[in-house]
Amino acid sequence: MKLLQLFLTGWAALAPFTASCSAEPKAGTPDAGKPDVTETGDETPQNPGTTGGKTLVVWYSFTHNSEKIASALLTHISADVLEVEPAEEGLDYAANNYAIGSSQIEAIRDNPGSASSYPAIKAVGFQPDNYDTIIIVTPLWWSQMAAPMQSFLFKYGASMAGKTIGLIVTSASSGISDVEKDAKRLIPQGKFLPESLWIRSSQVGSAAQLTAAWYDKMFPTQNETTAMKVKITAGGKSFTAELEDSETGKSFWGKLPLTLEMSELNGNEKYCYGVSLPRKDLFYDTVAAGDLMLYSGNCVVLFYGAAGGYSYTRIGKIANVTGLAAALGTGDVSVKFEKQ
Ligand SMILES: Cc1cc2nc3c(=O)[nH]c(=O)nc-3n(C[C@H](O)[C@H](O)[C@H](O)COP(=O)(O)O)c2cc1C
Repeated sequence: MKLLQLFLTGWAALAPFTASCSAEPKAGTPDAGKPDVTETGDETPQNPGTTGGKTLVVWYSFTHNSEKIASALLTHISADVLEVEPAEEGLDYAANNYAIGSSQIEAIRDNPGSASSYPAIKAVGFQPDNYDTIIIVTPLWWSQMAAPMQSFLFKYGASMAGKTIGLIVTSASSGISDVEKDAKRLIPQGKFLPESLWIRSSQVGSAAQLTAAWYDKMFPTQNETTAMKVKITAGGKSFTAELEDSETGKSFWGKLPLTLEMSELNGNEKYCYGVSLPRKDLFYDTVAAGDLMLYSGNCVVLFYGAAGGYSYTRIGKIANVTGLAAALGTGDVSVKFEKQ
């Protein structure tokens, strides 16, 4: 327990939060963007929402660091996404000096071969045959892999035989070698990438750069994509956006050219409902001017100022936003999207 005290300050600041759409005059539920794992014990596959991708990013997170890391990685690659969630909701793994988290890890350490050592997780529709590569994003607990992710891998690790396995681990300060050992024990026949990525909780703000650099190093040839560039015109000025190499980006590309009558909201975004695109939402703490996002599966949002706190699927991004706010103006505006 003494070791644990060292991390208390940093962890305490990371209390779980809930996304809320209530302040926004748009349709949607508070967790509209979360992957659809809901029913404990229901074996009906519900997650991932979209299948057919060759890469799966699977994440578990208690204080949202792994969630942010997975979200950052997914701005760089095209992949399906799967969230692992404990069956019992609302557990505070950090309460009473991390008593619950500690006892779960101890139970697994004491008897790693028994299913009863692993905490129950919600049913997921994991379909290993859909994937060549599985990237696991997990917190470290007591130098081990967080217990709920171990539960997922205890159940499905054998079905990942022969697949390329990547591991991204976040901790406050402890090194990740024992988490790698857990992963190799639970996926005995996985083809592990030569390097795992370790992101300390203090580095999560740089997750986009860290995950992109790691991914490109691990998969050097897969980074060669033909960019889908879109000319966006409003208020007599044009901007260039690059679309995501994802189902969402490709589907939007397929609808172009498109002129949207976009509504003003909050002094930082223009939005337009009625454009349905494949949805793979993630919670965004922050979005920036130039972010072109899908909200609620059928609403295109173009940000011209900083915002955040909702779930979106990224469609693309305008890199150079100089003059964007002025071009979009303060009211509703007609915006044209066309292939460049
Ligand atoms: C039960 C529990 C045990 C933890 N044990 C450690 C530890 O041994 N070493 C460490 O550096 N961080 C430890 N942490 C901190 C987390 O690894 C770190 O905050 C991580 O970034 C959390 O990821 P998350 O936000 O995705 O849950 C622990 C956190 C919890 C909840």
